[in-house]
Amino acid sequence: MRNVTKDNITDVFMSYMGPETPERLRVVLGSMVKHLHDFAREVNLTHDEWNKGIAFLEAAAEISDAERHEYVLLSDVLGLSSLIDLLHADPDGTSSSVLGPFHISGSPKLELGGDLRKDCDAQVLLAQGCVKDPDGNPISGATLDIWQTAPNGLYSSQDPDQDTYSFHGLQTVGADGRYAFTSVRPVEYTVPSDGPVGDILRACGRHPWRPSHLHFIVEAPGFRPLVTEVFPEDDQYLDQDTVFGVREDLVMRYQNMPAGSFPETGFALSGAVDEAYLKVDFDLTLVPA
Ligand SMILES: [Fe+2]
Repeated sequence: MRNVTKDNITDVFMSYMGPETPERLRVVLGSMVKHLHDFAREVNLTHDEWNKGIAFLEAAAEISDAERHEYVLLSDVLGLSSLIDLLHADPDGTSSSVLGPFHISGSPKLELGGDLRKDCDAQVLLAQGCVKDPDGNPISGATLDIWQTAPNGLYSSQDPDQDTYSFHGLQTVGADGRYAFTSVRPVEYTVPSDGPVGDILRACGRHPWRPSHLHFIVEAPGFRPLVTEVFPEDDQYLDQDTVFGVREDLVMRYQNMPAGSFPETGFALSGAVDEAYLKVDFDLTLVPA
């Protein structure tokens, strides 16, 4: 095609794809370019604006490395990561939510009733629940990979003062599907805002905060793995998570438990907690693969 116009350029692009183009690539790339062209036509994109966009992509590449994933962060704050989660949600199971950049593999085994709090002096949080199928039957042998922030708002991978696997644990449930552990209340934190994505947030008058949460990856043979996070109902950022991760069914409630009521058995800290503590019960439902 030698007579390319603003109106036919999208069709010309599609006509350049050869017969060997895989069908899914034709659909995905073709649709992406169609929307990209429509976007440029709709806003009458200028050369200056196009240059700014290119400079943004270059800056995002520049700041990215093995630990810093600026493009994932961009996808998160634009809502794309959560939209993809929502597109593939199964209404019969617990909602999924963003994995985030702070998961590390190889977490140490956390016994049933085990403790993540260690020598931290913050109030004890007791978290427990059941891993079950959509009919409510417990899923024996499910594993939970659990991680969260320390009280200073940092994950271990961000904080040289924490051990590698601080506030990380891998728990396997028994025949009753029950998980249980002690920890401390996770806290709100900000996504990295010192790079080009931070510039976008500031330009849009947005903050970089996420509500506090516990992360879980739950896996069991024959079921779809669940990557999710659960949020307390009283968090100030619950309705304005900067990465759009909150779902109604992922909201939990901490109960204030009086001094002297900590379970006498079944927990690593049994017999060692006299003061008031927080408790949360939250069940996790997996759907068959
Ligand atoms: Fe997180």
